[in-house]
Amino acid sequence: MTKGWMKSDWRAKPRIQMPDYPDAAALAAAEAQLAKYPPLVFAGEARRLKKQLAEAAEGRAFLLQGGDCAESFAEFSADNIRDTFRVMLQMAVVLTYGAKVPVIKVGRMAGQFAKPRSAPTEVVNGVELPSYKGDIINGFDATEAARRPDPQRMLQAYTQAAASLNLLRAFSTGGFADINRVHSWTLGFAEHDKAERYRELSNRISDALDFMKAAGITSETAPSLAAVDFYTSHEALLLEYEEALCRIDSITGQPVAGSGHMIWIGDRTRQPDGAHVEFCRGVLNPIGLKCGPSTTAEDLKVLMAKLNPANEPGRLTLIARFGAGKVGEHLPRLIRTVQEEGAKVLWSCDPMHGNTIKSSTGYKTRPFDSVLREVREFFQIHKAEGTVPGGVHFEMTGKDVTECTGGLRAVTDEDLSDRYHTACDPRLNASQSLELAFLVAEELSAQREAARRVAL
Ligand code: PEP
Ligand code: CO
Repeated sequence: MTKGWMKSDWRAKPRIQMPDYPDAAALAAAEAQLAKYPPLVFAGEARRLKKQLAEAAEGRAFLLQGGDCAESFAEFSADNIRDTFRVMLQMAVVLTYGAKVPVIKVGRMAGQFAKPRSAPTEVVNGVELPSYKGDIINGFDATEAARRPDPQRMLQAYTQAAASLNLLRAFSTGGFADINRVHSWTLGFAEHDKAERYRELSNRISDALDFMKAAGITSETAPSLAAVDFYTSHEALLLEYEEALCRIDSITGQPVAGSGHMIWIGDRTRQPDGAHVEFCRGVLNPIGLKCGPSTTAEDLKVLMAKLNPANEPGRLTLIARFGAGKVGEHLPRLIRTVQEEGAKVLWSCDPMHGNTIKSSTGYKTRPFDSVLREVREFFQIHKAEGTVPGGVHFEMTGKDVTECTGGLRAVTDEDLSDRYHTACDPRLNASQSLELAFLVAEELSAQREAARRVAL
């Protein structure tokens, strides 16, 4: 891909948000160990995802990317993975039905462990401590010892990612994701009118499947009904981990990030001359780039040229995260920059990171109405600009948590303390995720209808 690039070149560039490991020998040992382990994903899978994302950029598919803000060692369990996977399948069914295009499912899973923070330290109970940076770097407990960066954590994160991916692969192809089981994905607690809408929709799908069965098309004759593609992604923040898992694709000879199918660059680490851009530009995987209010047209031009010099479709996903009420101010100018450059990008909407507030009860939260509003604004602006809204990016869980306020089964500021489990940012719960999927499906089907009318 990039001639002369080496996986360690980022080390010569300015880096931010990364830990300073106190013990260089321990770090080197952990890196050497990790470098010997098998990659978690394979180049062929990353290339396949890139092809599918290229379709989404043209409006012939749609990207659904979602999962934890931060995976944690403590919350690691088969049930948690299954619940997030299941709610993503439900959302994908709703979206496919509305958009009538394939939905590309990408988890923020099996590697989403490292977190950028707004400040290097925080005060807990009057004591100033280094900030928690995600389980792959340091511990959540509010002690000096827990907050010390420990390179051994990279090995534990790798092991957890490998086990998670193993389960996700089994769920994807082992029968759980068979479309004939569309009814069984309903979550027990999802008893509200969106759950009812989901049931109606699954009844319609079952009818269509009965018809197809009568015509001889079943999971046996058409294996694509019985399995899904499910990909993994995470923010490529901890470059020691990324470098150690970087491998050479035996088919093309190109470097590939073996840590996940898609990696992205966060809003805080997208400096065009910084370490994170330097690493990501050299690997063949699909790359995401978060674009926030401070993203300038100038930077975006340089970033697009660096990250996708061949203008390869599917390579670059721009993940817009401006905040409700601010999309109109920023998205049109960046869309125009993309157009001026003739750049091929997939536009996705992250309605989470621009909408974080502190609740009256002291919790970090996101009002569900702001999340919905940002999604609507994203669709409106793409409609006005004549461009393709190709995907969404959510922080969500299959669990019935109370971390974002609002939604049909309204979570209030007072409820936040009930089930607030996130290791970092507040996530949508299963019911809010489904509600959001219905909104996006409505937007997509309205857009399809409008395009059909134009074509007539
Ligand atoms: C994130 O996706 O968890 C994140 C930190 O996002 P951003 O870089 O957009 O703030
Ligand atoms: Co987050």
